[in-house]
Amino acid sequence: MVRASAPGKCILFGEHAVLYGQPAVAVAIEQRCNITITDSVDDKWHLEGMIFKPEKHPHIDGLRKRLWHERQPLTINIDSAVPSGSGLGSSAALSVALAAALRAKRGRRVAADGSWHEGFSASLFQTDAYSKPDKGDAGHISPGGELLLGRAALDSDELALLGHAIEAESQGGRASPTDTATASYGGAVMISDRRERGFDWLCSRRLATPEGDRQWEVHRVKMPANIDQARLVIGNTGVHSRTATVVADVAAQLKQNPERMLEIETIGDLSRRGASALRSGELEELGRCMSENHLLLRGLGVSCPELETLIQAAAPTSLGVKLTGAGRGGCMVALTMEPTLTCGAIELAGGRAYISEIGCEGARIDRESGN
Ligand code: MEV
Repeated sequence: MVRASAPGKCILFGEHAVLYGQPAVAVAIEQRCNITITDSVDDKWHLEGMIFKPEKHPHIDGLRKRLWHERQPLTINIDSAVPSGSGLGSSAALSVALAAALRAKRGRRVAADGSWHEGFSASLFQTDAYSKPDKGDAGHISPGGELLLGRAALDSDELALLGHAIEAESQGGRASPTDTATASYGGAVMISDRRERGFDWLCSRRLATPEGDRQWEVHRVKMPANIDQARLVIGNTGVHSRTATVVADVAAQLKQNPERMLEIETIGDLSRRGASALRSGELEELGRCMSENHLLLRGLGVSCPELETLIQAAAPTSLGVKLTGAGRGGCMVALTMEPTLTCGAIELAGGRAYISEIGCEGARIDRESGN
């Protein structure tokens, strides 16, 4: 049995704009997706007590093909505190947690010098996690080597790579690595089309999207201790929103009105200002940038009355407020020094509120036994 978990994410800056080469900043939140895998009792795959239906769960099926092809069937149980369809990266958290659980259970063969005999890595030949594997393990390199099992087999980079490939596959080819990188690495992450000076570069990601080839550079944003004085309060409207649909609508709008790309670039400027404020612990500036980012997102047409109600309710006790994620429902986020008050105001306005520290731990193995 292996139990793994990965955090949800909250985008502080740059949603949508990140799909057009602009930077985005996201932080891992306290709410996590927990996955338990055990050997199946029969010759079938099971999910949550039911027979697994691959067509209903493309994320799970994509990982199964890449990490567990033609191996003994498994039983998967999911216990997630990340609400789905709400802009908090629930599918990324699920993909990354499941990838961690499967890798820990499967293990990894490594050479005496620690180099991999198998796995998915941008630096390894023939490990294209993005190609649809139909036969065999796409990540397999060569037999032999020592078998590392459990958490010793995990690699955050591999989880981020696999997670992104799976998200891209199920989001019609339009997925930035924001959600999956945050779920894998944890903390605060900045995604951009270039290497950003002053931030620790982690990896590059390339993807062929319907709008052309994209490349993203993923960075870690190191935060000073005073960030811990503030909290994020996330307000869920309960309105379900489908990322792929909202993303496709924004793409159509920009195609019709190319001059609106200027607004996307302004969001990018705000993301850079916000990332610097996060890195230096300037909480008031951080909040200001968030509220300015919201106004631009509203202009792009991705807010909705329910989000505006929660944002207005949270604003008086917050340093900054905005919608987070794809929008048109889902969640808003407030940066606040008075989380209890902000939480109360959101709930009074009809939202479901969650309090989180800023930048929690990334994917991890929580329990392993009898591999
Ligand atoms: C969704 O959480 C954020 C978007 O920018 C889409 C993406 O980055 O893949 C809207």
